[in-house]
Amino acid sequence: MREKVTIPHLMEKRARGEPISMLTCYDYPTALLEEKAGVDIILVGDSVGMTVYGHSSTLPVTMDIMIAHCQAVRRGAPGALLIGDMPYLSYQISVTEAVRNAGRFMQEAACDAVKLEGGRSMAPVFRALTDAGIPAMGHLGLTPQSLAMLGGFRAQGRDAEAAFRVIQDAAILEQAGAFSILLEAVPPEVGEEVTGRASIPIISIGAGPHCDGQLLIVHDLLGFFEAFTPRFVKKYADLNRTVLEAFQSYLGDVAGRRFPAAEHCYPMKKGELEKLAFLLKGSEDPREEVST
Ligand code: KIV
Repeated sequence: MREKVTIPHLMEKRARGEPISMLTCYDYPTALLEEKAGVDIILVGDSVGMTVYGHSSTLPVTMDIMIAHCQAVRRGAPGALLIGDMPYLSYQISVTEAVRNAGRFMQEAACDAVKLEGGRSMAPVFRALTDAGIPAMGHLGLTPQSLAMLGGFRAQGRDAEAAFRVIQDAAILEQAGAFSILLEAVPPEVGEEVTGRASIPIISIGAGPHCDGQLLIVHDLLGFFEAFTPRFVKKYADLNRTVLEAFQSYLGDVAGRRFPAAEHCYPMKKGELEKLAFLLKGSEDPREEVST
């Protein structure tokens, strides 16, 4: 088993100028593979609502759903730094609720940290989480829980004022205790500026190559999500096609009686087939026995 990834470990990587790798994950078998590949950070994102549950946004995802997925991923990936994504309304109502819900990720799912969306208005939550000993990652730029305010899944910080706000928000969150910040769907210049000013790891998902690390949603990377493909996605596989072809081959084999073949069948023990034939020959029809 590899050495556990910790926040100091990420800070050292950043200081050495080594890129930090991060992936989302929602289930045990995928976690096993991400762990084997050696990813630094795993985010159990509330994107699970879209990728796994088929919702059109992340808003229907609840704390209980997130905890169950984090538990499964932790079992498969003991070494990665595991971050639980705080779902909609789990941290916006009050600082007290935010700390209680963040604590559930740590206590019930053995997460190493939590992530929450939002800029300067979330500073009190970051302060309270830090005081409670719960490491928290910020999430700026395109923040999917504010879809209604943003008017859809669109890039952020593309004009000077909006970019300036993202850069300021990052500084405010760092000061409030964020151990890292995720920047989503902003121009690379904004990613570079935020990274250059920060003293914590800045992770990009669509924020260009100058950040300290990169995140992709695992279903996007694997080509396993069809609804839409953001510009920042690079597909490293075409699982949709692979899985569809596998299903079609299976259906064809069943229809053509090519499955199961001899190697998929359990043989009788040696000599037992003859004994069975003998038993069957001398026996009454059991249905008649039962009816009399
Ligand atoms: O839920 C998630 O996977 C996320 C990413 C979109 C950054 O928050």
